[in-house]
Amino acid sequence: MANTAVIGLQWGDEAKGKIVDLLTENHDIVVRYQGGANAGHTVVTGGQTFKLSLIPSGIFRPNVQCVIANGVVVNPKTLLAEIDGLRKRGVRVGGNLMISSRAHVILPWHVEEDRILNECPTGEAIGTTLRGIGPCYRDKIGRSQAVRVGDFYEAGWRERISAVAESKRRMLEPLGVAADSPALDAQAICGEYADYAERLRPFVSDTTQFLLDAVDSGQRILFEGAQGALLDIDHGTFPYVTSSNSSGMGIPAGAGVPGRHIHKVLGVVKAYCTRVGGGPFPTEQDNEIGQHIRQRGQEYGTVTRRPRRCGWFDAVAARYTARLSGTDAIAVMLLDVLSALPEIRICTAYELDGERTDRFPDHVERLRRVQPVFESLPGWQKEISDVRRLGDLPANARKYLDRLGEVVGRPVEIVSVGPDRAQTIFA
Ligand code: GDP
Ligand code: IMO
Ligand code: MG
Repeated sequence: MANTAVIGLQWGDEAKGKIVDLLTENHDIVVRYQGGANAGHTVVTGGQTFKLSLIPSGIFRPNVQCVIANGVVVNPKTLLAEIDGLRKRGVRVGGNLMISSRAHVILPWHVEEDRILNECPTGEAIGTTLRGIGPCYRDKIGRSQAVRVGDFYEAGWRERISAVAESKRRMLEPLGVAADSPALDAQAICGEYADYAERLRPFVSDTTQFLLDAVDSGQRILFEGAQGALLDIDHGTFPYVTSSNSSGMGIPAGAGVPGRHIHKVLGVVKAYCTRVGGGPFPTEQDNEIGQHIRQRGQEYGTVTRRPRRCGWFDAVAARYTARLSGTDAIAVMLLDVLSALPEIRICTAYELDGERTDRFPDHVERLRRVQPVFESLPGWQKEISDVRRLGDLPANARKYLDRLGEVVGRPVEIVSVGPDRAQTIFA
């Protein structure tokens, strides 16, 4: 299979970074096509742990071209810090990284807006990562106040930024942002961003053309999803979602590569469920089980360090997102985290208003009302981090994996039993 997509099928942090790093070996190009520095992807290699937010997880393999495509929202300061951090640790970042001139740019006012608009008028906060992601995408759709990477290399960009800053000041002052806030200081922002633009210049190009050419010449492309399909702006648990199409739906628009060129979609799931931020989570275990999973899995946000909410595997949700993302097979991650539990549960259906359903509700208020219907399986109570073959897993662990594949409706192709590249079982 030439071109592959790696998509999170839950609420993010499914360990996509590990899978992308692993699969990069068989690809020529790795593409991030949506999201921004709200993502935190972890790659553990050679005893070192790397956290990536904007740079594709393919960066550790020499000879692989990494692409930040048009659909990503780029914070240039964060990106440059990430490049510097990787270089300091001996990772080459040069001609092997490309940034789309069409990608939209996060400006300081976006972070202010994120802080103010995170509160939903209906009550529960979205609990965003406060990285300015939503406001930047809002400006992209709104057009008139948007700034793209390529703008910085055209005449008149300072005037344009100053005009946008002025219209943002008029918008944000009534919302409590001081007129003299550094987030609205056009002159300072122009100075700062001129510097960023110069430093990023060697990386910037027309990645849409590059990827279309790559398709024509038969290069193998790996698409790296950020977040998870349940956070998809259209098909996720709206409004408790991110502002991009984080299901497989986002690839064509976000990379400029037609869907017909995606030959294989690998859905990534944890062996349980986690969620950071607000919104309903039917299988959440706000109890000792949840705490146990959080401790064993080190379930604290990569980006914000917030404790992640933890719960049992939700097969109603995963079956829905596996179909939505056109998933061929699944990778089950962090199976080792469940090793100490005597009993493990899978949610196979919901009770909604007195009726049983295996459909994922299309409204957040209905999702809030569902009661999970659990199936109970015996645990294996044996450490599995050193296992490298499916046949060497305890029988109950194999049964659990078989059942996951069955209820999701997709074969389990990869099983992960620890963060390192080596701690992986190919089924
Ligand atoms: P991503 O955003 O989908 O790339 O996932 P994150 O990096 O935010 O979170 C996954 C976390 O789990 C990281 O700390 C990984 O190093 C870690 N991890 C990945 N696979 C495994 C595994 O099989 N077992 C354990 N215990 N940890 C893992
Ligand atoms: P990776 O790629 C987990 C969540 C936030 C919040 C909601 C909206 O590492 O899996 P945003 O800042 O995007 O407007 O926040 O989405 N969120 C993530 N949760 N993993 C992520 O990325 C996430 N990116 C955003 O916690 O609930
Ligand atoms: Mg993450």
